[in-house]
Amino acid sequence: MNFERKLLVTGGAGFIGSHVLRLMVKKYPETLFVNLDKLTYAGNLDNLKDLADSNNYAFVRGDIVDEKAVGDLFLKYQFDGVIHLAAESHVDRSIEDPMAFIKTNILGTMNLLNAARDAWKDGFDGKLFYHVSTDEVYGTLGETGLFTEETSYDPRSPYSASKASSDHLVRAYMHTYGMPVVISNCSNNYGSHQFPEKLIPLFIDNIVNNKPLPVYGDGKYTRDWLWVHDHALAIDLIFHKGTTGETYNIGGFNEWKNIDLINELCSIMDKKLDREAGTSAALITYVKDRAGHDRRYAIDADKINKELGWMPTVKFEQGLEKTVDWYLDNSDWLDRIRSGEYKSVYEKQYGKMGA
Ligand code: NAD
Ligand code: TYD
Repeated sequence: MNFERKLLVTGGAGFIGSHVLRLMVKKYPETLFVNLDKLTYAGNLDNLKDLADSNNYAFVRGDIVDEKAVGDLFLKYQFDGVIHLAAESHVDRSIEDPMAFIKTNILGTMNLLNAARDAWKDGFDGKLFYHVSTDEVYGTLGETGLFTEETSYDPRSPYSASKASSDHLVRAYMHTYGMPVVISNCSNNYGSHQFPEKLIPLFIDNIVNNKPLPVYGDGKYTRDWLWVHDHALAIDLIFHKGTTGETYNIGGFNEWKNIDLINELCSIMDKKLDREAGTSAALITYVKDRAGHDRRYAIDADKINKELGWMPTVKFEQGLEKTVDWYLDNSDWLDRIRSGEYKSVYEKQYGKMGA
């Protein structure tokens, strides 16, 4: 089949990548989407079951750090653009094993940039390298203020330092080689298909199983939460309508202190599980704080709103309830993760490939 355009999406088997693919594969039937994913512990092809039969979607298992594999893929497909989401993404893991973050987030991004530069050596016309990043590169805020696109970088965890480094490399390739790039920095996402190590899915799972809810430190850390599908819509918009060379901050206009969010989640869970009010909240357990824990993140998403007309579409309380419903309705998705079954299938299909 001849396609009008071919796009490489990295990390498409993860949480946000799977939402981006679900949106774009259906919306652009004339575009071939090639999903390059290593299928680490966070990559899960169950997330993309509904795309398995799409004619304009292909999955390739591979590591973005593997120079030859990435170069060969660019040669084979002659991509017109890249949407780069693959990353090690969990702060707690970056504290335990920073090197995995340096390899994937920095070397992997560098490798993709080199492959794109080589593949596009005859001209950058019609090409675009879109790098998906995080608000965590800006560091931490006090009680007031918002991160804008002009806020200086001040990353404070190995995760955010590795993402900041990759952002700098992407901009360096624009300035040095003229590569057309665009970057977005988004706040905390929530929704279906998020690996149960992040706050919301972990706590839903623990409540279902009557396990303690480990609240780090005093629980007054603040995050700005965005419905994952709204992030996917923003990525589609920026890829197609954003100005090349620009950075866009994406946020939910929706700040919550962790403990307030957890209490809200507990009361939704009590209702859904038909438990007496207060049952879930009784599981709250204050534990030792995360090392270097950023106090507050909050995004000024004015630029993407004014320039591209983007706004979040889902109110947090409704989104949280829908998220709870999804996890309760898809307990097999969680069971296959817990049992490791989601991964053993890949090992049979593709062989072992690291973490
Ligand atoms: P995730 O951890 O759920 O998924 C990451 C995906 O990347 C997985 O499918 C994994 O298998 C794949 N991957 C990891 N290392 C790889 C490698 N070396 N080669 C190929 N594939 C590899 O992450 P997510 O939450 O979906 O985040 C996606 C992107 O969005 C990341 O770049 C992250 O920094 C950024 N981001 C996430 C959030 C959030 O709240 N989750 C917010 C802002 C930005
Ligand atoms: P997380 O979902 O890991 O996202 P990030 O660190 O990228 O913001 O954590 C969200 C907030 O919840 C953060 O302040 C850390 C806190 N947290 C807990 O209190 N307990 C937990 O078990 C987890 C995973 C997170």
